[in-house]
Amino acid sequence: MCGIVGYIGSKNVVPILVQGLRRLEYRGYDSAGIAVAKKDQIVRVRTVGKVDNLANKVKLNSEELKDTHVGIAHTRWATHGSVTEANTHPHQALNGKLILVHNGIVENYRELKEFLGPDIQYASETDSEVLAHLIGKFYTGNLKQAVMQALQKVRGTYGIVVMHQDNAEELVAARMGSPLVVGFGDSEYYLASDATPMLSYTKKVMYLNDGEVVDIKKDSLEVFNLKDEQLEKNVEEVSWDDEQAEKQGFDHFMLKEIHDQPNVFQDAIRGRFNLNEGNAHLGGLNMTPTEMSSINHVVLLACGTASYAAQVGKGMFERLAGIPTSVEIASEFRYKDPIVDSKTLVFAISQSGETADTLAALREAKRKGAFVRGIVNVVGSTIARETDGGTYIHAGPELSVASTKAYTNMMAVLFLYALQFGRSRNLPLSAGQSLLHELRRIPEKMNYILNNKDIIKTLAEKFKNYQNCYFLGRGLNYPVALEGSLKLKEITYIHSEAYPGGEMKHGPIALLSPDFPVIAIMTQNQLYDKMRSNVEEIIARGAPIFLVATVGDDKARQLSEDIIFVPKTKRLLEPFINTVALQLFSYYVAIGLDRDVDRPRNLAKSVTVE
Ligand code: F6R
Repeated sequence: MCGIVGYIGSKNVVPILVQGLRRLEYRGYDSAGIAVAKKDQIVRVRTVGKVDNLANKVKLNSEELKDTHVGIAHTRWATHGSVTEANTHPHQALNGKLILVHNGIVENYRELKEFLGPDIQYASETDSEVLAHLIGKFYTGNLKQAVMQALQKVRGTYGIVVMHQDNAEELVAARMGSPLVVGFGDSEYYLASDATPMLSYTKKVMYLNDGEVVDIKKDSLEVFNLKDEQLEKNVEEVSWDDEQAEKQGFDHFMLKEIHDQPNVFQDAIRGRFNLNEGNAHLGGLNMTPTEMSSINHVVLLACGTASYAAQVGKGMFERLAGIPTSVEIASEFRYKDPIVDSKTLVFAISQSGETADTLAALREAKRKGAFVRGIVNVVGSTIARETDGGTYIHAGPELSVASTKAYTNMMAVLFLYALQFGRSRNLPLSAGQSLLHELRRIPEKMNYILNNKDIIKTLAEKFKNYQNCYFLGRGLNYPVALEGSLKLKEITYIHSEAYPGGEMKHGPIALLSPDFPVIAIMTQNQLYDKMRSNVEEIIARGAPIFLVATVGDDKARQLSEDIIFVPKTKRLLEPFINTVALQLFSYYVAIGLDRDVDRPRNLAKSVTVE
């Protein structure tokens, strides 16, 4: 995920910017750059690759960069356009006089390009450069006004910092969806995507909210809303040390990433659906309507957590689009002489985009003539490059070994694809609209669970000393149970298995005892009564039962006192909600057992060997 650093004051700016970018490296990036203001020009240095490369290039240009005190810097995690120096920030407009760094996604950049007209020469493929030119168009001497006017036209997310050669002692920054923090030094100000880069200089910070613009000069700082009304803001004292800051104050990356979900979920769906049409529009599919209608089989290739997202995706494709869909564990698919042909659409699903088995499987599918597309998190990764299109899930860097937010965003993209195919076939407009209405409410419902995590913590404490357990679910909650079980195994080392509720009596029930608990997903959907019967069977065997149930379900209270209540949503969207509850449960069990949550034993984040 991109990172921003800015500084205005009397210190030498270059080391502050470069050091600041180093502090943001943990966010993940693929290129980096800085721009500093001199009296008569703005000097820009950019490189592909590590901040070390940038530091070397900065050294080579040290004469040109010396004695500068105002500047901005950026690490880029590619979204629009490949990883090249031209696409690296800072971007410029007005012949290099106006400079911008941007985090986020400008959804309507194509419209904005049309608005700006054909005369503008773009130096990059990025949406960010369009934003720089838009601000340039409105610039008549007042940088803040130009930024305000431009932002009225922007749809999407941004954290931006802008400077102009004629106002060389001024930085204007704004936020909508992508975080920005201002740090207060002694007659100096820092700006960054989070507090990490400024903690060695100051602990006094101010967090910008969405829709706020800050105008910083050497000796003044003013904050405005987008209507240009000045706002009063509090300055806060950060108590984190540097390491905690990378985790945004959370104790572990896993907990931070679980909490990232409401935001990154929005990144996964933003600009990719149309409510009026009740439809999704995923450009990366690269298929004509005729090709789309020729598809008679969808194959989802993945490993581990990604394969459980695929199982949820299978349910979505079959229900919304009526297309028979198979989930194939990539390591099996590659050796089984799979039945795929030119009427098969294959999605290779992967967080890292580097998983060796998934890569080999997609090559095999390609060889057999299928349409092969990627659903990937890491931009520019091998799977992203080797598929003929597809969609990034925009979960941002996932640093904890156990996958959390990538799983939810994989399901989000699969849902949109299923909807798109459904609407191109028989799914009625009203069904599409009503699903999308509810989809937009998912982040708020995830937040409900995150805000009630103390209850989950208490249940985890009660659970932590069991040696074995089952997870149960039905319908789309079965893959949710599989994922819950994998997460528990991975980070707590407790033995756990997952079954569809109806399977219990066909064998697994034999193991139940007062020492063998069951975590059952019993939310209120069409299968509620069936699941309730399964839970009663378990209780009759004396096994402890932990429930995930719908808020307001009083009957659940008669079955167990150990319940995680989750908000009601549509059946097809339940995995987005129920998963968050189970992630937190595993996390707190692991904490209770003093496990190394972010780096569990024997596991690697990216499995690039067979
Ligand atoms: C589980 C986990 C793994 C990965 C699997 C696939 O928490 O992280 O099961 O899901 O190794 O990795 P990607 O998605 O990178 O292909």
